Amino acid sequence: AVTHVHQFVIQEASVKRLCKTQHVMTVNGMYPGPTLEIKNGDTLSVKVINKGKYNVTIHWHGVRQMRTGWADGPEFVTQCPIRPGGSYTYRFTVRGQEGTLWWHAHSSWLRATVYGALLIQPREGTNFPFAKPDRQSTLLLGEWWNANPVDVVREATRTGAAPNISDAYTINGQPGDLYNCSTQGFFFSLIKLNTVVVPISSGETNLLRVVNSAMNQPLFFTIANHKFTVVGADASYVKPFTTSVLMLGPGQTTDVLISGDQPAGRYYMAARAYQSAQNAPFDNTTTTAILEYKSAACSSANPIMPRLPAFNDTPTVTAFSTSFRSRERALVPAQIDESLFFTVGLGLNNCPPNFNASQQCQGPNGTRFTASMNNVSFSLPSNFSLLQAHIQGIRGVFTSDFPAAPPRVFDYTGNVSRSLWQPATGTKLYRLKYGSRVQVVLQDTSIVTPENHPIHLHGYDFYIIAEGFGNYNPKTDSSKFNLVDPPLRNTAAVPVGGWAVIRFVADNPGVWLMHCHLDVHITWGLAMAFLVEDGVGKLEAIEPPPEDLPICS
Ligand code: C2O
Repeated sequence: AVTHVHQFVIQEASVKRLCKTQHVMTVNGMYPGPTLEIKNGDTLSVKVINKGKYNVTIHWHGVRQMRTGWADGPEFVTQCPIRPGGSYTYRFTVRGQEGTLWWHAHSSWLRATVYGALLIQPREGTNFPFAKPDRQSTLLLGEWWNANPVDVVREATRTGAAPNISDAYTINGQPGDLYNCSTQGFFFSLIKLNTVVVPISSGETNLLRVVNSAMNQPLFFTIANHKFTVVGADASYVKPFTTSVLMLGPGQTTDVLISGDQPAGRYYMAARAYQSAQNAPFDNTTTTAILEYKSAACSSANPIMPRLPAFNDTPTVTAFSTSFRSRERALVPAQIDESLFFTVGLGLNNCPPNFNASQQCQGPNGTRFTASMNNVSFSLPSNFSLLQAHIQGIRGVFTSDFPAAPPRVFDYTGNVSRSLWQPATGTKLYRLKYGSRVQVVLQDTSIVTPENHPIHLHGYDFYIIAEGFGNYNPKTDSSKFNLVDPPLRNTAAVPVGGWAVIRFVADNPGVWLMHCHLDVHITWGLAMAFLVEDGVGKLEAIEPPPEDLPICS
């Protein structure tokens, strides 16, 4: 196995999109940031040097970080942020994971522009469990604002209102040529520069690694006239299945094979919103890239446009998400030690008594938006990281009383009393013994709106053993559990107005955030953290912290 050494300089750069120049945070001046490519079993050592003006951390989304929780990255959870002028080296080994993951800033809304792909090729001396593709292309779906994303979230936090929606979706940082500057007097010929071109040759197979790195929007993705064979998700292989459309929640990745089996030409690939929240404004634009047969590279014909599902096409989402099966025999715990039930949803809090109505509290009916799990709106500490407080036994930073179930049973998909709209803020962790077998039912609520929530767990992959709509019923729904070949994921798209059941074994000691990967929801508190205790053996304990671990004061 190899150690790959990289340097990430966090720095401001000017980036021109949608005919305007913005100054955004980047890694090494690149937007999106550099692609890291390794093999399963390799080690990464990435020195992050903060030359920007904000605190920052980098998270390696989906990397299990076995016993290396200090390298996970969420600010105030596993480390204090890297201050401007500071640096920190993330060092970890990828074991047993193959496929596509990604990395992103885990501090304020910096991940809007500070993100990139992490490609994990098969372990040295092994191959894909399918015929070796002729080429591989990475497609990072993103979201772009004609504003500084940090200002967008600061304004939302100040007013209590929903943040401004984005101005465009992007593929590898480009909105694509459905946008043009011609109405603003720019040369039409510049437009093509805004479009990513993915090459293919007739008869060839291309492995597309698709990542939803958007901030706040689940996305549909499709290519005109080409079918996808899905072979992996979240760096685990799945039993191949074919589909013409993908849906990815933010945080999720999907690996698909496409064949150059169509007449040589140019075909649009396109992404746009899957919008399950009701009566909420959303960015309804479409981003495109072009799949181009090499022999058609000089063709001037317009690419063929695919048909995308309707914005609210939940049946297509369900058909897709329930098609995943793990490729290997799954190691799902058949018995469980911890049976947990977490609600995931929004809420509304009253405004402070002396607020200035025109300045603050611009949420619905004089309230401000909030969000919670089990009616606890998660708040981060600011003097220590949770992991440091746990390992060093520092008191008063968190409590270990995150509830195993909501404060009372209610109709999660119905209207509920005001007391359940108003979660209380807390820094509550749920303690797990090393090796315990955990089941979590994730139940969407209809408080404010039902919505598809991409729930991400740090430090673990989990099996999604069932999903459904309505209120989860422990008596009847447990008969639907797939304990044979459920998919292994790090992010579960919990169905709108429904539920998903996940299982994992708590074999990675540390403090691990679980949160909605819609960034606006984590801003509002849709998060909690597990504290997984050390086991008895040396290999069952977290490693000591690195010497350059940033501290807060
Ligand atoms: Cu991809 Cu906590 O994040």
